[in-house]
Formats: sequence, C-alpha cells, structure tokens
Amino acid sequence: MAKRIQFARTGGPEVLETVEVEPSEPKAGEVRVKNHAIGLNFIDIYFRTGLYPAPAMPSGLGTEGAGVVDAVGEGVTHLEVGDRVAYAQGPLGAYSQYHVLPADKVVQLPEDIPFETAAAAMLKGLTSQYLLRQTFPLEGGETILFHAAAGGVGSIACQWAKALGVRVIGTVGSAEKAELAMNNGAWATINYREENVVERVRELTNGAMVPVVYDSVGKDTWTTSLDCLAPRGLMVSFGNASGAVEGVNVGILNQKGSLYLTRPSLNGYADTRERFEEMCLDLFDMLESGKVKVDIAQRFTLDEAGKAQEALASRRTTGSTILIP
Ligand SMILES: NC(=O)c1ccc[n+]([C@@H]2O[C@H](COP(=O)([O-])OP(=O)(O)OC[C@H]3O[C@@H](n4cnc5c(N)ncnc54)[C@H](OP(=O)(O)O)[C@@H]3O)[C@@H](O)[C@H]2O)c1
Repeated sequence: MAKRIQFARTGGPEVLETVEVEPSEPKAGEVRVKNHAIGLNFIDIYFRTGLYPAPAMPSGLGTEGAGVVDAVGEGVTHLEVGDRVAYAQGPLGAYSQYHVLPADKVVQLPEDIPFETAAAAMLKGLTSQYLLRQTFPLEGGETILFHAAAGGVGSIACQWAKALGVRVIGTVGSAEKAELAMNNGAWATINYREENVVERVRELTNGAMVPVVYDSVGKDTWTTSLDCLAPRGLMVSFGNASGAVEGVNVGILNQKGSLYLTRPSLNGYADTRERFEEMCLDLFDMLESGKVKVDIAQRFTLDEAGKAQEALASRRTTGSTILIP
C-alpha cells in the first residue's frame, strides 16, 4: 500500500486527506514513478479551491515530482525500471508515494541533479524557460518587471534573466523578500505593499517604462502592470495568486499604449515531446552550470500537504517548497 493525497470536494486545506491505496499498474504508454520528492505549486491550490476544475472527483493533486521509474507500461521505449526521472505535467496525483503518468511527460534526470532540486525546479524552471526564452525572447540589455520575484518561479526567473544580461525589477511583499530577490540577481526591487510601483518603475527606467511585465499575481496587479509598460509592450499574465483577472475590456490595451497581452501556460509551450525535451535541456543546462540555483526554502512531509499549501497561499514561503513522501 502507498500514501496518496486526495480531495473529494473543493475548499480549504482541510479537504485534503491522506489515503492508503494500492499503487496502480501503468497502462500502455505510461510509467509508474516512485517519488523521492514532490513539487508544491500555486496551481495545486487552484485545483483544490475549484478555480481550475479537477477532471474527476475524488481527485489526486500535484503535477511535479522526481524519483525512480518503478514499472513501465507496454510500448514505452525511452524509459526503463530504475531510471532517475522527473516530470512537471500530466494527470493530477503527484502528491503520492507512487505516481502513474504518460511516459512522454517524463524525462531522464542527469546524475548530478538531485531529486529534491528537480522536484523544486521542473515546473517553475520550465515556466521560467518559456517566459524568458519564448513568450518574450529576451536578448540581454532589457529592463523588465517581474512580480512576486522572491517566490518559486520568481527566484528562478531572476537568476535566469540575470544570466541573460537582463535587468530585473522585481516586486516583493516584504524587506526580507527584497533581499532574497537581490541575492537572486534582481537589479532593483519594489515592495508593492508599500510603494507606488508605477512611479518607481518610471524612476528606475528614466521614464522609458518596460517592454514586458511578467505578472502571476493577477487581479491585484493587473492595472499597475499595464501602466508599467512602454508603448506596444507585452503584458504576460501567467497566474492568479491574488485572484483571477476578470471582466477585461480589450479597449484598455489601446488606452494604455497599443499593448499586447498573452495568457500563457506551460502546457501550451511544452505541448510536444520534442519541445518538452528541448526546454528540459535548457533548464538542466542552467542548473548544471550553476547559473540557476534552486532555493528549497520549505520542506514538508506528504501528510503536511495542507499546511504547506496554506503557507504558500498566505505568502509565508520564499523560493521553492517540496513535499517528501
Ligand atoms: N502559467 C503558467 O504556466 C504557470 C506555471 C507556474 C506558475 N504559474 C503561476 O506563477 C505564480 C507563482 O507560482 P509559485 O508556485 O512559484 O508561487 P510563489 O511565487 O512561490 O507564491 C506566490 C507569491 O505571490 C505573491 N502574492 C501576491 N499577492 C498574493 C496574494 N494575494 N496571495 C498569495 N500570494 C500573493 C506572494 O509573494 P509576495 O509576498 O512577495 O507578494 C507569494 O509568495 C502563481 O500565480 C502560479 O499560478 C503559472
């Protein structure tokens, strides 16, 4: 028997329960991974609260982890039992000791990347990859605005952008988080709980404003983000930590300076095996070269998944959070 976290109704952290289940056998094209570490992500909270509907109830939770292949379904050719692997997409259910998922969502992990690092970096690092290298392909020399710069995605994105020669203005919710973001290579920080973000961006850019804003905070920062963009700039709205952006009149993009808007997701970029592998190579290269170091600032046991989510939702975490099964 093996432990698995599931929920039968949406709601607060209390809906998460630990159940003992018989690990299921992988079907054709699938593998079973014995998890060594599991990544905690904001999207897990969206599923638990019902902002994103789970495909079925009761539902497992989580899409990110790292471990060892423990069983292989028919027709799988690129993975074998015993392989060290990691994943960041696929069916909900990574919050478990064993997770069965399509083999094409699973990648071999280089020997020098520990399981915990992979579990902390796959989803957040692949997201940073597409945001900085694809959604708005940064060339170096730009000054950009990145919200929640001391969080999971933010901590990786700051280091990656710095390595590309980009000046990151990172927003943060406290002085401690400002220090962390600066240590991660941010060029400047703004405490968006206390300071006027638009005015500070204007000062820092000598009035030019920024060509791209990466905004995962959502509802609370939407208008501010648009106001920080230079004419024809790109608003990348990629999350809802403060709530979803709703009721947008597209005319606002005209009023704020012929802006562009995109609402991307990892699944929309790592949508083929080839693209997923290319993005993983890029991420592993950043990790192995030391250009991106993953800060696992919180570790919880699997049973503490609710507590871990509560910490993430209440802005008490920094960097990455993992669950140890
Ligand atoms: N579209 C995609 O492909 C994709 C993929 C991965 C992640 N994401 C999004 O990226 C964001 C970051 O994910 P993460 O897992 O790395 O989380 P995280 O950044 O570690 O945590 C979220 C942070 O957002 C900030 N925040 C601002 N207002 C908030 C509020 N009202 N409630 C909670 N947090 C608030 C907090 O930092 P401060 O205290 O500094 O404000 C908090 O620490 C999430 O919105 C997530 O959905 C999107």
